[in-house]
Amino acid sequence: MSTPPSISTAPTISTALASPVTYDPAYEIPEQDEQQTIQALVSTLQSISDVTARDSGHGYRSVHVKSHGVLRGNLTVAPGLPPELKQGIFGYEQVYETVIRLSTSPGDFLADSVSTPRGFAVKVIGVQGERLQGDAADNTQDFLLVTGPAFLNKDAKGFLSGLKLLAKTTNRFPEFKKVISAVLRGLARLVESLGGESATLKAMGGYPETHILGEQFFTQVPVLYGPYMAKLSVRPASSGLRALIGKHLNSRDDPHALRQAVNAFFATHAGQWEVLVQLCRNLDTMPIEDAAAVWPEHESPYLKVATIDVKPQKAWDDKLTPPIEDKLAFSPWNGIAAHRPLGSVMRARKLTYQHSSSFRRQMNGCPMHEPQSTQQL
Ligand code: HEM
Repeated sequence: MSTPPSISTAPTISTALASPVTYDPAYEIPEQDEQQTIQALVSTLQSISDVTARDSGHGYRSVHVKSHGVLRGNLTVAPGLPPELKQGIFGYEQVYETVIRLSTSPGDFLADSVSTPRGFAVKVIGVQGERLQGDAADNTQDFLLVTGPAFLNKDAKGFLSGLKLLAKTTNRFPEFKKVISAVLRGLARLVESLGGESATLKAMGGYPETHILGEQFFTQVPVLYGPYMAKLSVRPASSGLRALIGKHLNSRDDPHALRQAVNAFFATHAGQWEVLVQLCRNLDTMPIEDAAAVWPEHESPYLKVATIDVKPQKAWDDKLTPPIEDKLAFSPWNGIAAHRPLGSVMRARKLTYQHSSSFRRQMNGCPMHEPQSTQQL
C-alpha cells in the first residue's frame, strides 16, 4: 500500500439529495426463462468467435474484439470521502496499479470508419475483500465501461434478439458496413438534433467520429457499492484529455485511426481521468432491473471517488500488445463481493464472459491468470 499523492478534495454531499437506498435482494427479479436466454447468449457469442477463429486461426473476444491500446496506470482513491462513498475498493485511501484496455464494441475487426461505441475496461490490482468467484488469492477488481449512460436494451433477452442479427454479419460486408456507418451517423445526428435518443443507431455504426480519449465512459448497469447500489463512470480530467472532448477524428484514410491517435497522444502526454459514482437514491427512477434506464443526474449526480493517472507510454505495439491482450480477461464478475453486479444484464454477463475467455485460453494455449502487478503483463 503506498501513500496517495494529493488530488483535489473529495465531494461534499448536498443535503438536498435523498439518502442512498440500501440494497435488498427483493430488488432483483430474474425472469422465469433467464437461464435459457443466457445459454442462447453463450451460443450466439460463440458463433461470432467461431467465425473470427475460422478466418484467423486465433481465438478472439466475442465482442469488443478490436483494441485501441493497453495502458498501465494508477488509481488513487480520493482522500476524505464521505461515508456513503467510502465503500468497497474506495474504502481505503490507497493507490492501486491499473491496466486499461480501450476497444470498440463489435465482434469483428472493422475499419474505424465503421464508427461504433467505445469501451474502457480497467483492472484494479491489489484490492482487498471477499471475492465473488475464481481464485481466492486473486486481488483484482474489474470495471467495464462503454460510451453512453445506459444499456441499449432493458434486459438480457432484448440484447439477445439484436445480437443474433449482428452475429450473422460477422466478418461479412466490410465495405457495405463503412457506407452504412456514414448513413447511420447522419441519422443519429438528425435524431439527436430533434431531441431524440439514438443509442441503437450508434451501436449499429452511427457513432460520431470522435477521438476515443475525449470520451466519458459508463458502467451503464449497476453494481453493489458496499451496502448501496451504484453506476460508475470515468471521464477526462487532465487538460490534455479534456482538449479531446468531442474532437473530430478522421478515420477515412486509416483503418486504425483510433489506435494511432491513442499512441500519438501517450507518446508525449500523461493523462488523468476522474472515477465517478452515481448512487441509487430512488428505486422508481433508478431501477435495478431496467438496464436501459438512464438514472437522472439531478436526483443523483455522479460524484468523484478516485482518479486514474497514466504516464506517457507506448499504448500499442503491433508485436507486443496482442499477446498481452490474449493474457488479459476483464469481467464485471471478477472482483469483490462489495461490488457484485446487479440486474438481468449483469447476471447474463457471468457465464458469457467466462465462456468467451475460456474459449480464447483453449484456442490460443495461453493460460489466463489475474496479474498481481502490471510488471507481469
Ligand atoms: C448481456 C449483456 C452483455 C453481454 C452478453 C456481454 C458479453 C461480453 C463478452 C462475451 C465479452 C468478451 C469477454 C472476453 O473474451 O474476455 C465482452 C467484452 C466487453 N464488454 Fe460486454 N457484454 C454485455 C454487456 C456489457 C455492458 C453493459 C458493458 C459496459 C457498459 C460491457 C462492456 C464490455 C467491454 C468494455 C468489453 C471488453 C473487455 C476487454 O477489453 O477485454 N458489456 N462482453
